[in-house]
Amino acid sequence: MKKAKAEDFDWPNLGFNYYDLPYSFHAEYRDGKWDEGKLTNDSTIKMSEAANVLHYGQEAFEGLKAYRRKDGGVNLFRPDMNAKRLHNSAKRLLMVPFPENRFVEAVKMVVKANQDFVPPYGSGATLYIRPFIIGSGEVIGVHPADKFQFHILVTPVGPYYKGGMKPTEYVTSPYDRAAHGGTGQSKVSGNYAASLLPGSLAHKNGYSDVVYLDPRLHENIEELGGANFFGITKDGKFKTPKSPSILPSITKKSLLQIADSFGMEPEETSISIYDLDQFSEAGAMGTAAVISPVGSITHNGNKHVFYSETEVGPYTQKLYDRLSGIQDGDQKGPDGWQVDVPLK
Ligand code: PLP
Ligand code: COI
Repeated sequence: MKKAKAEDFDWPNLGFNYYDLPYSFHAEYRDGKWDEGKLTNDSTIKMSEAANVLHYGQEAFEGLKAYRRKDGGVNLFRPDMNAKRLHNSAKRLLMVPFPENRFVEAVKMVVKANQDFVPPYGSGATLYIRPFIIGSGEVIGVHPADKFQFHILVTPVGPYYKGGMKPTEYVTSPYDRAAHGGTGQSKVSGNYAASLLPGSLAHKNGYSDVVYLDPRLHENIEELGGANFFGITKDGKFKTPKSPSILPSITKKSLLQIADSFGMEPEETSISIYDLDQFSEAGAMGTAAVISPVGSITHNGNKHVFYSETEVGPYTQKLYDRLSGIQDGDQKGPDGWQVDVPLK
């Protein structure tokens, strides 16, 4: 793939795709320690054919964004939370985590090096950052690797769900994404591999994404293929599923706090697919999704429409305005949420 050039991008019309940018970050763990790591122009990875990641799936990743501010500077949003989650995901798969206290510095380094690719303020696009760790050590039996690689790639992106702030349609699936006691709480590639088939069936039928139900009873909403779920009750309360097999979303944690500041009495609780009437609005929330209104959910052929199939509801809009206002640097957020990337 050819290296991208900043002048070739049509920022306001960007989709959610990969472009090969000038710099990536690469560090290696061998002989019991992580090396210094460095920026590299090489966006390929060399490893043994017996690397654990290729057979037994030792891989964990993160997703965060760099946001261009009005003053031309660049912010990250709560990157320490991504560092912590990657640490937890790596531990779950018996990988040696890249040191948490070096994670944010490495992210800043790669964003600074690719700063021409952080889309302009107000374009609706951002620079997506994908740090990941793989088991690169050779195995043939089912054992953890003893060598690891940590990489960060970055790529400019537009909205993840096609409509952006226009509501789109979602559908439940008979497939499960993750089991209770499995790896649903970890951001690991295997969860996403399991979601490819149900996701592509949903897309083929015109839906934006799958609504996964709990793997025991297939009754309670878990989350979406690429985001957590929230509903707003008719009396304006913010509810989001509580489950041992969903990703602990950083956007969700942030919105719980924002909803609380709006007096929306946020709650993490069981949400039955048969009790959607309690909600006047619903949405997807995540780094890639930001907040995307859920227009409807179809379950067993029955379509439940929330606020509207074409318009975003007032609570969803208010939450979006606050969250994106903080992320873009237009509004001051709670301490530690906005992290400047020095560009010089
Ligand atoms: N759930 C899944 C399955 C995801 O892939 C994501 C994206 O990271 C999320 C939820 C949202 O998490 P976050 O807000 O930390 O991006
Ligand atoms: C993210 O929001 O960062 C994710 O990892 C979601 C993914 C489906 C793109």
